[in-house]
Amino acid sequence: PYVITEPCIGVKDASCVDVCPVDCIHTTDDAPQYYINPDQCIDCAACELACPVSAIAHDASLEGDMRRYIEINANFYRS
Ligand code: SF4
Ligand code: F3S
Repeated sequence: PYVITEPCIGVKDASCVDVCPVDCIHTTDDAPQYYINPDQCIDCAACELACPVSAIAHDASLEGDMRRYIEINANFYRS
């Protein structure tokens, strides 16, 4: 699945939400960023192209410290 990473924090532009065909991007008012539900994402890449701060990438392309966002996104949907 695709993953939302650090540049989203404090920005929460939400352009990604509007282009997602399966409506799998969510947040709450008090959360620092948006999150992609890994069980629903169909890897279409529409959100990656829509984000103005390039916060979104496929999980397989994430390197180093950015890999922790795979769990951060998934954990939002496990609460
Ligand atoms: Fe939604 Fe497509 Fe982004 Fe997955 S890759 S979160 S399906 S817009
Ligand atoms: Fe965040 Fe970019 Fe979406 S800033 S809310 S990932 S459009």
